[in-house]
Amino acid sequence: MAKIEFLNLGKQPITNNFLNNPKPKKEFFYNLKVTFDEKSKIVSLSNFVQPEKMFNETYAHRASMSKTMLLSNYKLSNYIKKRFAPRSILEIGSNDGIFLKNFNNILSIGVEPCKNLALITDEMGIKTYSNFWDINLAKKIVNKYNAFEFIYSANTISHIHNLKETISAVEMSLSDNGIFVIEDPSLLEVLKKISYDQFYDEHAYVFSILGIFNLLSETELEIFDIQKTSTHGGSQRIYIKKKKNKINISQKVNNAIKSELDFGMSKYETYKKFAKKVESSKKKLINIFENLKKNKKKIIGYGATYKSATVLNYCGINTKYIDYFVDTTETKQGKYTPGTHIPIIKPSEALDSSVDYAFLGAWNFKKEIFSKEKKFIKRGGKFITHVPTPRII
Ligand code: TYD
Repeated sequence: MAKIEFLNLGKQPITNNFLNNPKPKKEFFYNLKVTFDEKSKIVSLSNFVQPEKMFNETYAHRASMSKTMLLSNYKLSNYIKKRFAPRSILEIGSNDGIFLKNFNNILSIGVEPCKNLALITDEMGIKTYSNFWDINLAKKIVNKYNAFEFIYSANTISHIHNLKETISAVEMSLSDNGIFVIEDPSLLEVLKKISYDQFYDEHAYVFSILGIFNLLSETELEIFDIQKTSTHGGSQRIYIKKKKNKINISQKVNNAIKSELDFGMSKYETYKKFAKKVESSKKKLINIFENLKKNKKKIIGYGATYKSATVLNYCGINTKYIDYFVDTTETKQGKYTPGTHIPIIKPSEALDSSVDYAFLGAWNFKKEIFSKEKKFIKRGGKFITHVPTPRII
Protein backbone atom coordinates (compact mmCIF):
# COMPACT_ATOMS: atom_id res chain seq x y z
CA MET A 1 0.00 0.00 0.00
CA ALA A 2 1.53 3.21 -1.03
CA LYS A 3 1.15 6.55 -2.65
CA ILE A 4 1.66 6.23 -6.41
CA GLU A 5 2.14 9.00 -8.94
CA PHE A 6 -0.04 8.63 -12.04
CA LEU A 7 -0.01 11.96 -13.87
CA ASN A 8 2.70 14.45 -14.83
CA LEU A 9 1.41 17.82 -16.09
CA GLY A 10 4.86 19.33 -16.42
CA LYS A 11 6.23 22.71 -15.43
CA GLN A 12 3.47 24.97 -14.13
CA PRO A 13 3.28 28.53 -12.73
CA ILE A 14 1.20 29.82 -9.79
CA THR A 15 -2.25 30.01 -11.40
CA ASN A 16 -3.12 33.20 -9.55
CA ASN A 17 0.09 34.95 -10.61
CA PHE A 18 -1.32 37.18 -13.36
CA LEU A 19 1.64 39.18 -14.59
CA ASN A 20 2.07 42.91 -15.08
CA ASN A 21 4.75 42.32 -17.67
CA PRO A 22 4.70 39.92 -20.66
CA LYS A 23 8.42 39.27 -20.20
CA PRO A 24 8.85 38.87 -16.44
CA LYS A 25 12.42 38.70 -15.15
CA LYS A 26 11.51 36.02 -12.65
CA GLU A 27 8.57 33.65 -12.60
CA PHE A 28 8.08 30.75 -10.19
CA PHE A 29 7.43 27.31 -11.71
CA TYR A 30 7.01 23.90 -10.09
CA ASN A 31 6.47 20.40 -11.44
CA LEU A 32 2.77 19.48 -11.32
CA LYS A 33 2.37 15.76 -10.62
CA VAL A 34 -0.62 13.92 -9.19
CA THR A 35 -0.64 10.98 -6.78
CA PHE A 36 -3.13 8.29 -5.69
CA ASP A 37 -2.98 6.95 -2.14
CA GLU A 38 -3.89 3.26 -2.33
CA LYS A 39 -4.74 3.14 1.39
CA SER A 40 -6.93 6.23 1.88
CA LYS A 41 -7.97 6.45 -1.84
CA ILE A 42 -7.20 10.18 -1.66
CA VAL A 43 -5.86 11.91 -4.79
CA SER A 44 -3.49 14.82 -4.21
CA LEU A 45 -0.68 16.78 -5.82
CA SER A 46 2.66 15.03 -5.31
CA ASN A 47 4.29 18.27 -4.13
CA PHE A 48 2.36 21.07 -2.48
CA VAL A 49 3.11 24.70 -3.26
CA GLN A 50 3.74 27.00 -0.26
CA PRO A 51 0.32 28.56 0.69
CA GLU A 52 1.72 32.10 1.01
CA LYS A 53 2.74 31.97 -2.67
CA MET A 54 -0.90 31.39 -3.68
CA PHE A 55 -3.18 33.02 -1.12
CA ASN A 56 -2.18 36.60 -0.52
CA GLU A 57 -3.34 40.19 -0.94
CA THR A 58 -3.21 39.93 -4.74
CA TYR A 59 -5.63 37.00 -4.94
CA ALA A 60 -7.66 37.53 -8.12
CA HIS A 61 -10.64 35.19 -7.88
CA ARG A 62 -13.86 37.01 -6.97
CA ALA A 63 -16.72 34.56 -6.58
CA SER A 64 -19.36 37.30 -7.06
CA MET A 65 -18.21 38.01 -10.63
CA SER A 66 -20.54 35.36 -12.01
CA LYS A 67 -24.33 35.57 -12.06
CA THR A 68 -24.47 31.77 -11.96
CA MET A 69 -22.47 31.71 -8.72
CA LEU A 70 -24.45 34.56 -7.13
CA LEU A 71 -27.71 32.76 -7.80
CA SER A 72 -26.49 29.34 -6.65
CA ASN A 73 -25.15 30.81 -3.37
CA TYR A 74 -28.44 32.63 -2.78
CA LYS A 75 -30.43 29.44 -3.41
CA LEU A 76 -28.15 27.36 -1.19
CA SER A 77 -28.42 29.82 1.70
CA ASN A 78 -32.24 29.67 1.53
CA TYR A 79 -32.08 25.89 1.52
CA ILE A 80 -29.75 25.84 4.55
CA LYS A 81 -32.02 28.25 6.47
CA LYS A 82 -35.04 26.05 5.78
CA ARG A 83 -33.43 22.68 6.42
CA PHE A 84 -31.22 23.49 9.43
CA ALA A 85 -32.20 26.97 10.69
CA PRO A 86 -28.72 27.58 12.17
CA ARG A 87 -28.27 30.38 14.72
CA SER A 88 -24.57 30.78 14.03
CA ILE A 89 -22.43 30.22 10.97
CA LEU A 90 -18.73 30.09 10.21
CA GLU A 91 -17.38 30.04 6.68
CA ILE A 92 -13.87 28.80 5.95
CA GLY A 93 -12.72 30.60 2.79
CA SER A 94 -15.37 33.32 2.67
CA ASN A 95 -13.95 34.97 -0.49
CA ASP A 96 -15.93 38.19 -1.19
CA GLY A 97 -18.91 37.23 0.99
CA ILE A 98 -20.97 35.66 -1.80
CA PHE A 99 -22.45 33.11 0.65
CA LEU A 100 -22.29 34.82 4.05
CA LYS A 101 -24.00 38.01 2.91
CA ASN A 102 -27.24 36.01 2.73
CA PHE A 103 -27.19 35.43 6.52
CA ASN A 104 -27.47 38.90 7.98
CA ASN A 105 -29.76 38.00 10.90
CA ILE A 106 -27.50 35.48 12.63
CA LEU A 107 -23.93 35.42 13.92
CA SER A 108 -21.80 35.07 10.77
CA ILE A 109 -18.02 34.82 10.89
CA GLY A 110 -15.67 34.56 7.91
CA VAL A 111 -12.17 33.13 7.60
CA GLU A 112 -10.27 34.35 4.55
CA PRO A 113 -6.45 34.50 4.37
CA CYS A 114 -6.45 36.76 1.29
CA LYS A 115 -6.41 40.23 2.84
CA ASN A 116 -7.95 42.00 -0.17
CA LEU A 117 -11.01 39.73 0.08
CA ALA A 118 -11.26 39.78 3.90
CA LEU A 119 -11.43 43.56 3.66
CA ILE A 120 -14.50 43.34 1.41
CA THR A 121 -16.51 41.24 3.89
CA ASP A 122 -15.26 43.21 6.90
CA GLU A 123 -16.62 46.33 5.20
CA MET A 124 -19.97 44.54 4.76
CA GLY A 125 -20.04 44.14 8.55
CA ILE A 126 -19.10 40.44 8.59
CA LYS A 127 -16.28 39.85 11.08
CA THR A 128 -13.58 38.16 9.00
CA TYR A 129 -10.36 36.57 10.25
CA SER A 130 -7.66 37.10 7.63
CA ASN A 131 -5.76 33.95 8.56
CA PHE A 132 -5.19 30.40 7.35
CA TRP A 133 -7.55 27.84 8.89
CA ASP A 134 -5.81 25.74 11.54
CA ILE A 135 -6.17 24.53 15.14
CA ASN A 136 -4.89 27.78 16.67
CA LEU A 137 -7.34 29.92 14.74
CA ALA A 138 -10.22 27.53 15.54
CA LYS A 139 -9.39 27.76 19.28
CA LYS A 140 -9.33 31.54 19.14
CA ILE A 141 -12.66 31.80 17.32
CA VAL A 142 -14.45 29.20 19.48
CA ASN A 143 -13.19 30.90 22.68
CA LYS A 144 -14.79 34.11 21.54
CA TYR A 145 -18.04 32.90 19.90
CA ASN A 146 -18.56 29.27 21.14
CA ALA A 147 -18.98 26.31 18.79
CA PHE A 148 -20.98 26.96 15.61
CA GLU A 149 -24.25 25.38 14.50
CA PHE A 150 -23.22 25.53 10.86
CA ILE A 151 -19.80 25.51 9.22
CA TYR A 152 -19.54 25.95 5.47
CA SER A 153 -16.55 25.70 3.20
CA ALA A 154 -16.71 25.78 -0.59
CA ASN A 155 -13.59 25.23 -2.67
CA THR A 156 -11.32 25.67 0.32
CA ILE A 157 -10.84 22.41 2.26
CA SER A 158 -9.31 20.89 -0.91
CA HIS A 159 -6.78 23.77 -0.86
CA ILE A 160 -5.49 23.12 2.68
CA HIS A 161 -2.50 20.79 2.87
CA ASN A 162 -2.83 19.31 6.35
CA LEU A 163 -6.18 17.53 6.05
CA LYS A 164 -6.05 15.89 9.49
CA GLU A 165 -5.47 19.19 11.29
CA THR A 166 -8.16 20.88 9.16
CA ILE A 167 -10.73 18.31 10.20
CA SER A 168 -9.68 18.40 13.89
CA ALA A 169 -10.07 22.19 13.81
CA VAL A 170 -13.59 21.73 12.43
CA GLU A 171 -14.45 19.09 15.05
CA MET A 172 -13.61 21.53 17.85
CA SER A 173 -15.54 24.39 16.19
CA LEU A 174 -18.78 22.51 15.52
CA SER A 175 -21.53 22.25 18.13
CA ASP A 176 -22.73 18.70 18.96
CA ASN A 177 -25.83 19.16 16.80
CA GLY A 178 -23.93 21.24 14.25
CA ILE A 179 -23.69 20.64 10.50
CA PHE A 180 -20.52 20.95 8.42
CA VAL A 181 -20.89 21.28 4.67
CA ILE A 182 -18.04 21.17 2.19
CA GLU A 183 -18.23 21.67 -1.53
CA ASP A 184 -15.37 20.92 -3.89
CA PRO A 185 -14.87 19.61 -7.45
CA SER A 186 -15.73 15.93 -7.76
CA LEU A 187 -12.96 13.52 -8.68
CA LEU A 188 -15.48 11.23 -10.38
CA GLU A 189 -16.50 14.12 -12.68
CA VAL A 190 -12.84 14.91 -13.41
CA LEU A 191 -12.22 11.30 -14.42
CA LYS A 192 -15.38 11.16 -16.53
CA LYS A 193 -14.82 14.53 -18.24
CA ILE A 194 -11.02 14.23 -18.60
CA SER A 195 -10.98 17.70 -17.00
CA TYR A 196 -7.37 17.42 -15.91
CA ASP A 197 -7.35 21.20 -15.52
CA GLN A 198 -8.87 20.69 -12.05
CA PHE A 199 -5.29 19.88 -11.05
CA TYR A 200 -3.33 23.03 -10.28
CA ASP A 201 -1.33 24.54 -7.44
CA GLU A 202 -4.32 25.50 -5.28
CA HIS A 203 -6.10 22.16 -5.63
CA ALA A 204 -3.88 20.19 -3.30
CA TYR A 205 -6.62 17.55 -3.33
CA VAL A 206 -9.43 16.63 -5.69
CA PHE A 207 -11.84 14.74 -3.46
CA SER A 208 -13.77 11.55 -3.97
CA ILE A 209 -16.56 10.64 -1.55
CA LEU A 210 -14.54 7.51 -0.88
CA GLY A 211 -11.54 9.57 0.22
CA ILE A 212 -13.57 11.82 2.53
CA PHE A 213 -15.35 8.77 3.98
CA ASN A 214 -11.99 7.18 4.81
CA LEU A 215 -10.58 10.45 6.17
CA LEU A 216 -13.52 10.88 8.57
CA SER A 217 -13.53 7.25 9.70
CA GLU A 218 -10.93 8.05 12.36
CA THR A 219 -12.79 11.13 13.65
CA GLU A 220 -16.03 11.88 15.47
CA LEU A 221 -17.55 13.08 12.18
CA GLU A 222 -19.45 11.26 9.43
CA ILE A 223 -21.14 12.01 6.08
CA PHE A 224 -24.95 11.98 6.19
CA ASP A 225 -25.97 13.47 2.84
CA ILE A 226 -24.56 14.36 -0.57
CA GLN A 227 -25.71 16.64 -3.38
CA LYS A 228 -24.17 16.89 -6.82
CA THR A 229 -23.83 20.42 -8.21
CA SER A 230 -22.81 21.74 -11.61
CA THR A 231 -20.42 24.31 -10.05
CA HIS A 232 -16.84 24.31 -11.37
CA GLY A 233 -17.76 21.75 -14.00
CA GLY A 234 -19.13 19.19 -11.54
CA SER A 235 -18.82 19.41 -7.78
CA GLN A 236 -20.18 17.62 -4.75
CA ARG A 237 -21.67 19.09 -1.62
CA ILE A 238 -20.98 16.80 1.31
CA TYR A 239 -23.08 17.12 4.49
CA ILE A 240 -21.22 16.07 7.64
CA LYS A 241 -22.37 15.72 11.27
CA LYS A 242 -21.01 14.44 14.54
CA LYS A 243 -21.53 10.67 14.94
CA LYS A 244 -23.43 11.28 18.18
CA ASN A 245 -25.97 13.45 16.31
CA LYS A 246 -28.66 10.96 15.30
CA ILE A 247 -29.80 12.50 11.99
CA ASN A 248 -30.64 9.81 9.39
CA ILE A 249 -27.89 8.93 6.96
CA SER A 250 -29.21 9.26 3.42
CA GLN A 251 -29.07 6.33 1.03
CA LYS A 252 -27.28 8.76 -1.32
CA VAL A 253 -24.07 8.25 0.67
CA ASN A 254 -23.89 4.52 -0.04
CA ASN A 255 -25.03 5.07 -3.62
CA ALA A 256 -22.28 7.63 -4.25
CA ILE A 257 -19.62 5.33 -2.82
CA LYS A 258 -20.95 2.47 -4.95
CA SER A 259 -20.80 4.63 -8.12
CA GLU A 260 -17.18 5.48 -7.37
CA LEU A 261 -16.26 1.85 -6.68
CA ASP A 262 -18.06 0.79 -9.87
CA PHE A 263 -15.99 3.34 -11.79
CA GLY A 264 -12.84 1.75 -10.37
CA MET A 265 -11.86 4.65 -8.16
CA SER A 266 -10.29 2.42 -5.51
CA LYS A 267 -7.79 1.06 -8.06
CA TYR A 268 -4.57 2.56 -9.35
CA GLU A 269 -5.18 1.25 -12.91
CA THR A 270 -8.17 3.60 -13.30
CA TYR A 271 -5.94 6.61 -12.67
CA LYS A 272 -3.25 5.31 -15.03
CA LYS A 273 -5.91 4.96 -17.76
CA PHE A 274 -7.03 8.52 -17.06
CA ALA A 275 -3.43 9.73 -17.51
CA LYS A 276 -3.31 8.09 -20.96
CA LYS A 277 -6.54 9.88 -21.91
CA VAL A 278 -5.03 13.19 -20.74
CA GLU A 279 -2.04 12.69 -23.06
CA SER A 280 -4.36 12.03 -25.97
CA SER A 281 -6.46 15.10 -25.07
CA LYS A 282 -3.31 17.22 -25.26
CA LYS A 283 -2.42 15.92 -28.73
CA LYS A 284 -5.95 16.56 -30.04
CA LEU A 285 -6.10 20.08 -28.65
CA ILE A 286 -2.73 21.06 -30.10
CA ASN A 287 -3.89 19.66 -33.47
CA ILE A 288 -6.99 21.86 -33.44
CA PHE A 289 -4.92 24.99 -32.72
CA GLU A 290 -2.28 24.07 -35.34
CA ASN A 291 -4.90 23.52 -38.06
CA LEU A 292 -6.72 26.76 -37.33
CA LYS A 293 -3.48 28.74 -37.34
CA LYS A 294 -2.45 27.15 -40.66
CA ASN A 295 -5.70 28.57 -42.02
CA LYS A 296 -4.85 32.00 -40.56
CA LYS A 297 -7.77 32.01 -38.12
CA LYS A 298 -7.81 34.46 -35.24
CA ILE A 299 -8.24 32.70 -31.89
CA ILE A 300 -8.82 34.32 -28.53
CA GLY A 301 -9.30 32.83 -25.05
CA TYR A 302 -12.57 33.23 -23.12
CA GLY A 303 -12.22 33.29 -19.30
CA ALA A 304 -8.66 33.39 -17.94
CA THR A 305 -9.46 30.77 -15.33
CA TYR A 306 -7.00 29.14 -12.98
CA LYS A 307 -7.93 25.85 -14.63
CA SER A 308 -6.88 27.15 -18.05
CA ALA A 309 -3.35 27.78 -16.76
CA THR A 310 -2.89 24.00 -16.46
CA VAL A 311 -4.14 23.38 -20.01
CA LEU A 312 -2.17 26.22 -21.62
CA ASN A 313 1.10 25.38 -19.88
CA TYR A 314 0.76 21.60 -20.30
CA CYS A 315 -0.11 21.89 -24.00
CA GLY A 316 2.30 24.78 -24.73
CA ILE A 317 -0.46 27.08 -25.97
CA ASN A 318 0.82 30.66 -25.89
CA THR A 319 0.65 33.86 -27.96
CA LYS A 320 1.60 31.85 -31.05
CA TYR A 321 -1.98 30.53 -30.98
CA ILE A 322 -4.07 32.86 -28.80
CA ASP A 323 -4.02 36.63 -29.40
CA TYR A 324 -5.54 37.52 -26.05
CA PHE A 325 -7.91 36.38 -23.32
CA VAL A 326 -11.11 38.16 -22.39
CA ASP A 327 -12.19 38.15 -18.73
CA THR A 328 -14.79 40.03 -16.67
CA THR A 329 -12.58 40.09 -13.55
CA GLU A 330 -11.17 43.60 -13.30
CA THR A 331 -8.05 42.53 -11.42
CA LYS A 332 -7.07 40.22 -14.30
CA GLN A 333 -7.61 42.82 -17.04
CA GLY A 334 -4.46 44.50 -18.37
CA LYS A 335 -2.35 41.60 -17.07
CA TYR A 336 -0.83 38.48 -18.69
CA THR A 337 -1.61 34.80 -18.14
CA PRO A 338 0.85 33.00 -15.85
CA GLY A 339 3.48 30.97 -17.66
CA THR A 340 2.10 31.59 -21.15
CA HIS A 341 2.07 35.42 -21.04
CA ILE A 342 -1.10 35.99 -23.09
CA PRO A 343 -2.62 39.48 -22.60
CA ILE A 344 -6.00 39.71 -20.82
CA ILE A 345 -8.50 42.37 -21.84
CA LYS A 346 -11.98 43.47 -20.82
CA PRO A 347 -15.16 42.24 -22.59
CA SER A 348 -16.08 45.53 -24.29
CA GLU A 349 -13.03 45.25 -26.56
CA ALA A 350 -12.92 41.50 -27.04
CA LEU A 351 -15.18 39.80 -29.56
CA ASP A 352 -14.93 42.15 -32.53
CA SER A 353 -15.55 40.95 -36.09
CA SER A 354 -11.93 39.86 -36.57
CA VAL A 355 -12.26 36.99 -34.06
CA ASP A 356 -12.98 33.55 -35.55
CA TYR A 357 -12.58 31.23 -32.55
CA ALA A 358 -12.67 31.53 -28.77
CA PHE A 359 -11.04 28.90 -26.55
CA LEU A 360 -13.26 28.28 -23.51
CA GLY A 361 -10.98 28.70 -20.50
CA ALA A 362 -14.20 28.99 -18.47
CA TRP A 363 -15.83 25.85 -19.96
CA ASN A 364 -17.68 25.45 -16.66
CA PHE A 365 -19.72 28.57 -17.61
CA LYS A 366 -20.43 27.43 -21.16
CA LYS A 367 -24.19 27.99 -20.82
CA GLU A 368 -23.84 31.51 -19.37
CA ILE A 369 -21.23 32.44 -21.98
CA PHE A 370 -23.17 31.05 -24.97
CA SER A 371 -26.27 32.96 -23.97
CA LYS A 372 -24.21 36.15 -23.53
CA GLU A 373 -22.38 35.81 -26.86
CA LYS A 374 -25.34 35.17 -29.19
CA LYS A 375 -24.08 37.84 -31.60
CA PHE A 376 -20.67 36.17 -31.98
CA ILE A 377 -22.30 32.77 -32.53
CA LYS A 378 -24.81 34.21 -35.02
CA ARG A 379 -22.10 35.69 -37.21
CA GLY A 380 -20.34 32.31 -37.39
CA GLY A 381 -17.97 32.67 -34.41
CA LYS A 382 -17.03 29.29 -32.90
CA PHE A 383 -15.78 28.06 -29.54
CA ILE A 384 -13.02 25.55 -28.82
CA THR A 385 -13.20 23.34 -25.75
CA HIS A 386 -11.09 20.48 -24.41
CA VAL A 387 -13.86 19.01 -22.21
CA PRO A 388 -14.70 16.14 -22.39
CA THR A 389 -12.70 15.80 -25.64
CA PRO A 390 -11.03 18.60 -27.61
CA ARG A 391 -13.43 19.90 -30.26
CA ILE A 392 -14.91 22.94 -31.98
CA ILE A 393 -18.49 23.94 -31.10
P1 TYD B 1 -13.75 30.17 -12.34
O1 TYD B 1 -14.99 29.51 -12.79
O2 TYD B 1 -13.67 30.64 -10.95
O3 TYD B 1 -12.62 29.14 -12.64
P2 TYD B 1 -11.20 28.94 -11.92
O4 TYD B 1 -11.48 28.56 -10.51
O5 TYD B 1 -10.59 27.84 -12.76
O6 TYD B 1 -10.46 30.24 -12.06
O7 TYD B 1 -13.40 31.42 -13.27
C1 TYD B 1 -14.21 31.93 -14.26
C2 TYD B 1 -13.49 33.06 -14.92
O8 TYD B 1 -14.15 33.35 -16.13
C3 TYD B 1 -13.48 34.34 -14.11
O9 TYD B 1 -12.22 34.97 -14.22
C4 TYD B 1 -14.54 35.21 -14.77
C5 TYD B 1 -14.49 34.72 -16.19
N1 TYD B 1 -15.77 34.88 -16.89
C6 TYD B 1 -15.83 35.76 -17.97
O10 TYD B 1 -14.85 36.40 -18.32
N2 TYD B 1 -17.02 35.91 -18.63
C7 TYD B 1 -18.13 35.22 -18.26
O11 TYD B 1 -19.20 35.38 -18.87
C8 TYD B 1 -18.05 34.30 -17.15
C9 TYD B 1 -19.24 33.51 -16.72
C10 TYD B 1 -16.84 34.17 -16.50
